[in-house]
Amino acid sequence: MRVVVGVGGGIAAYKACELVSRLIQKGHQVRVVMTPKAAQFVAPLTFRALTGSPVGIASEDEPEGPLSHVRLAHWANAMIVAPATAELIARLAQGIASDLLSLVYLGFRGPVVVAPAMEAEMWTHPATQRNIARLRADGAVIVGPAEGRLASGAWGRGRLVEPEQLVEALEDATQVKDLAGVNIVVTAGATWEFFDPVRLLTNPSTGLMGALIARLAAQRGARVALVHGPSLTFSVRDDLQRYPVVSAEDMLARVDQLMAALPADVFIGAAAVSDFRPAHPLGQKAHKDEVELTWAVLPNPDIIQTMAERYRHRTLIVGFAAETDNVVESAKVKRERKGLHAVVANLVGRDRGFGAGAHQAWLVSEEGETPIPGNSKEATAAFLLDWVRDHVRCH
Ligand code: C5P
Repeated sequence: MRVVVGVGGGIAAYKACELVSRLIQKGHQVRVVMTPKAAQFVAPLTFRALTGSPVGIASEDEPEGPLSHVRLAHWANAMIVAPATAELIARLAQGIASDLLSLVYLGFRGPVVVAPAMEAEMWTHPATQRNIARLRADGAVIVGPAEGRLASGAWGRGRLVEPEQLVEALEDATQVKDLAGVNIVVTAGATWEFFDPVRLLTNPSTGLMGALIARLAAQRGARVALVHGPSLTFSVRDDLQRYPVVSAEDMLARVDQLMAALPADVFIGAAAVSDFRPAHPLGQKAHKDEVELTWAVLPNPDIIQTMAERYRHRTLIVGFAAETDNVVESAKVKRERKGLHAVVANLVGRDRGFGAGAHQAWLVSEEGETPIPGNSKEATAAFLLDWVRDHVRCH
């Protein structure tokens, strides 16, 4: 994205530094314009250093040369105003172009995210609410404010939402909703199979792959239910329906219920389901000297295979195959054996495959196998969802 970040003059202006930094780390191009008040809270030099580009403040400033407000408005494909103070919101709602930020706002045609921050009484005042309603009607997406401790020390609704959520809101606003109307069930993370209340069988999966797929699918307009094991620790969006489960049997029951209830158009099994569970789980902790050195296990149900048997006729079923070698060949075999429409094959090992480690993947379907470009879980999630979009309605 090419983003203009408009910084308003409130104490939360310091959080705009982290917002800009995160956007740049994610590969977006950023230009900053500040209100004169904002420049009293944070030095323009901070943003200049973060973005590598000059920062504009007054109407007559020319950070991009003559007619900078026009150049910036034409250059950007997204704009975010954070923090948006009551005064700035009022000016934007009225179209009062008294500084560079408001000039760029008026010249810009595209998605605008506005993140208010102020004392709770100012936020709930009818004047502010009128202005917010006006901005919304003009097409702006309003994010927050959040509830929490305010600058005055009081507790209430008025805090700027966290930079991470702002980035997400901005990506949301610019994302093509090409999965709108599609219902997707995603599984993620490892399952836990208890021997006794303190000992369990599991694996190193963090759930990152499934969480990324779920998050991106929701961003692309899908209705997503994420069924995940206890290892998943990532923050996921509020609009995702989350279903935490513990064991493979719990996961199977929850997935089956959702597949029928939604009903699901797509099932993506990214969970690392434990293949086995203890045959005789104990209700109480076994003392060390009582523990048998060999523990009997039973095979767990194969969730994705069960889903394929029950719903393949109407639901696109996509699995994962993590292997240390011969990954594409075994994915082909797995796809046939389990009756899946597609399998994402990925290499795993001590330092790859799990969490944020190295990532290399292929998409195996009846059309053949394709190496997935990008070598990152984000890129794999995007590639897979493109495939889903192209196959979901016609499968
Ligand atoms: O057979 P394998 O475990 O390699 O297959 C991996 C795929 O099968 C993944 O999509 C995983 O989520 C799914 N799976 C499952 N239930 C199991 C084991 C694996 O749904 N019991």
